[in-house]
Amino acid sequence: MRILVTGAAGMIGNKLSEYLCETGHKIIPVDVVQHDGVIDADLRYQATVFRLVKEYTPDLILHLAAMTNLRFCEQNKETAHATNYGITEVLTRACLEFGTRMIFFSSDYVFGKYDHFWQEDDPPCPTTQYGIDKAASELLIREQLSNYAIVRTAQLYGFAGDFVSLVCEALLSHQEFIAFANLVNCPTWIGDLFPMINQIINNGNHGIFHCVGPEAMSRYQYACEIAEAFYLDTSCIKAVNLDFSTDIRPPVVRINGASTYDTLQVNPGMLKDNLPLCSSYAMEATREQGML
Ligand SMILES: NC(=O)c1ccc[n+]([C@@H]2O[C@H](COP(=O)([O-])OP(=O)(O)OC[C@H]3O[C@@H](n4cnc5c(N)ncnc54)[C@H](OP(=O)(O)O)[C@@H]3O)[C@@H](O)[C@H]2O)c1
Repeated sequence: MRILVTGAAGMIGNKLSEYLCETGHKIIPVDVVQHDGVIDADLRYQATVFRLVKEYTPDLILHLAAMTNLRFCEQNKETAHATNYGITEVLTRACLEFGTRMIFFSSDYVFGKYDHFWQEDDPPCPTTQYGIDKAASELLIREQLSNYAIVRTAQLYGFAGDFVSLVCEALLSHQEFIAFANLVNCPTWIGDLFPMINQIINNGNHGIFHCVGPEAMSRYQYACEIAEAFYLDTSCIKAVNLDFSTDIRPPVVRINGASTYDTLQVNPGMLKDNLPLCSSYAMEATREQGML
């Protein structure tokens, strides 16, 4: 399938593009960031998007481009809205004009106003500008398009620079690692996420999907599981409570993936089973810095 990937130079877009290429798809990578082999374009502009879709005739737009810094989005609401909702609006128009399917990368942060084990059809209740724009994008896609999938994911790990690497790096150098005991969501391994996305692409699944890991846990529990998996000293991990009067993240966001797992016939692994598969990059980063 010919897939135009937006945000293809980003943390996930870049790895997902590589994965989909390996599974036989033809990728048309686009990002505002200049990057080798990536088409450089600002997707907020309709003329740019229409020109790209006309020229490359994708079967599918896989839409990951976003402004993902929560604090920046909160402090620059109009700019964040112009990107996080604005690009979706323009892409939706292009999908309507050219009859293209869209898969939209959304977030667990469309929820968070209160604690609940969120199902796919629960009404969103975002607490941040980032979450508000993701929820508004979802609604627009649902109202305007007939051929779409919305993928909500959360707290991804499985690549250099993720939470796993940060914990390993601190503990291997015997530094204290401060981990929040009251900040909870569902760590999701990209080794589970990418095959789920590929299935949605190949099956043409329609609707909202919770492509998340099966466990909700605090950052403190998460850090302790990492330490145990790599035989590192848990006593360097310090549990601290985040002050939600100054931090904008929703405290607890638990996403229920059961129905999505059932539809896609997948069985995402538990954190303790996936962590050993992260050792190459998590330990490599520290080895490069001469910490081993
Ligand atoms: N990582 C996670 O744990 C996670 C969890 C839930 C959902 N998601 C969603 O998954 C997607 C990918 O996340 P990520 O972590 O890979 O984010 P990322 O690294 O920030 O990647 C997003 C990419 O989109 C680009 N972009 C921003 N504005 C653009 C524009 N006007 N035109 C074209 N490209 C533009 C960004 O460029 P700049 O860097 O220059 O802004 C960046 O390269 C996002 O939609 C995010 O909301 C991620």
